[in-house]
Amino acid sequence: MARSRTRDNAGKSAMSWKKHGLLWRIARGQAHAFRVTHPEARCVLVDMHAGDGAGVDMPQLDLFEPSVSRPSAQVAVHVARDIGGADVILCEQNRAKRTQLAARFPEATIVREHHDVLPYLMRGYDWALVFNDPCGYASHGIDTLEKIARTVRSDFLIVFNERALGRLMGMKDVPDKPDPPRVAQVRQVKHRYAWMMEPAAWARLVDKPQVARSRMIHASSGFTYRILVLSTTFCQLIKPPLWETIACKTSR
Ligand SMILES: C[S@@+](CC[C@H](N)C(=O)[O-])C[C@H]1O[C@@H](n2cnc3c(N)ncnc32)[C@H](O)[C@@H]1O
Repeated sequence: MARSRTRDNAGKSAMSWKKHGLLWRIARGQAHAFRVTHPEARCVLVDMHAGDGAGVDMPQLDLFEPSVSRPSAQVAVHVARDIGGADVILCEQNRAKRTQLAARFPEATIVREHHDVLPYLMRGYDWALVFNDPCGYASHGIDTLEKIARTVRSDFLIVFNERALGRLMGMKDVPDKPDPPRVAQVRQVKHRYAWMMEPAAWARLVDKPQVARSRMIHASSGFTYRILVLSTTFCQLIKPPLWETIACKTSR
């Protein structure tokens, strides 16, 4: 029987609550840690892949937590309110999703493409917290990540589908028999993304001295991921057994 891919293609699945919960905790941890040491700083939270701004049902009802998870856009808006003195920029390619975002989060600035974020970051912010949660390894927006890092002091929360890229890395460079066109296309890009498998390479990309990575988290057969935190300092939540930190050399 053909499997339905609708939920994964929609950018979320019934399992997204795990990712949403982790982003919520880590974003709050990093933002509050920064605010404590920089009470006057002007901050901005940037969600590079905002989706439609709707959460998914939580697996178990809880008297103290909402029954629907907070997706990244909502995390950005709530954390900005919590720390104060912070703006929110939501980036989403899909027009219908942008309309939903505008209705849900009227206080946020909504843009279409990754690079549309850059002019807003030149408005004198002291710190940015950047969420990067694409549908696959090809859509991280690597150029924009590099440019953000050069424009404003930033921390990055990257959702990285490591298992999908691992599958690509397992392909032979040259096939035994001619590939169908779609497979040939995928095989050709193998070397473009290989660097992503090395956690320290992410930190070097945005000139950070270290990276924290979560354990592998399973959501579906197509989506088994880690969250990477790229920062100069980590909040207290970043500790084993869920997190490991890896130091790396930077150009500074
Ligand atoms: C995995 S979904 C995001 C899920 C959301 N962050 C959440 O917490 O539920 C990825 C989203 O990124 C959007 N997207 C992909 N490439 C983009 C780009 N270059 N610029 C803006 N949005 C993009 C897709 O339309 C999709 O809605």
